[in-house]
Amino acid sequence: MLQKISETASYLRGRMQFLPKIGIILGTGLGELATQITDVQEIPYQEIPNFPLSTVEGHSGKLIVGRLGGVQVLAMQGRFHFYEGYAMKEVTFPVRVMKALGVGTLVVSNAAGGMNPNFQLGDLMLITDHINLFPEHPLRGHNYNELGVRFPDMGNAYDAALRAKAVAIAKKLGIRLQQGVYVGTQGPTFETPSEYRYFRTIGGDAVGMSTVPEVIVAVHSGIKVLAFSIITDLGGFEPTPEVSHEEVQRVANEAQPRMTRLVAEVIRDL
Ligand code: HPA
Repeated sequence: MLQKISETASYLRGRMQFLPKIGIILGTGLGELATQITDVQEIPYQEIPNFPLSTVEGHSGKLIVGRLGGVQVLAMQGRFHFYEGYAMKEVTFPVRVMKALGVGTLVVSNAAGGMNPNFQLGDLMLITDHINLFPEHPLRGHNYNELGVRFPDMGNAYDAALRAKAVAIAKKLGIRLQQGVYVGTQGPTFETPSEYRYFRTIGGDAVGMSTVPEVIVAVHSGIKVLAFSIITDLGGFEPTPEVSHEEVQRVANEAQPRMTRLVAEVIRDL
């Protein structure tokens, strides 16, 4: 694994005009942020040694290197989901490479189903914490001390200072920003009504099929994390409204301008 990471990082170093300070995972509803990046260099995943290829509908696979508000960023357009069949080490490999390239902060977005009764469709949620319900752990197996400690502290996984900054900027921009706990599940099924109630009972505000693995590896690597969900559907209420991938995409697209404005402004301020 160490060799793969350094091989991929040195390939990218050779292709990139500068090294990134901030990593961005452009999840559902944040794709448009890519259009605000300047001095762009695009590197398709299939050209990068050891990189998995992304497959899911609505996600194209490439790295976008450039500047956002003067800050050097490395954005992933297209992420690897566990439900696609990748091992957790593959899902999180790009975060390892980001660390090797010098990334200190990771900004992540996703689409999620809301269980908090105060949430509305299309709300943005700042992730304050997570509950990891994935059946495989990205840190399972041999721990390389070069990469991080065996038993990482997760008490400030979603960096409190970054969160405070995001809250202040949302307020300044007049963007309604909910806050809550993200439950990470493997998918690809959306939740049954009982599962939504269960996730609410254990302390979740939103549920989705991504983000948690990447955040765990970022924390293990010593990368600070800031993460947002777009609430694309609501669960746990009677009767449970029908959810589909198309509906998730539609609500995410509607929320996209707000999410893009907020995240761009936060990154400019980092
Ligand atoms: N559940 C899980 N993942 C999701 C959902 C959901 O309701 N909405 C968007 N991604």
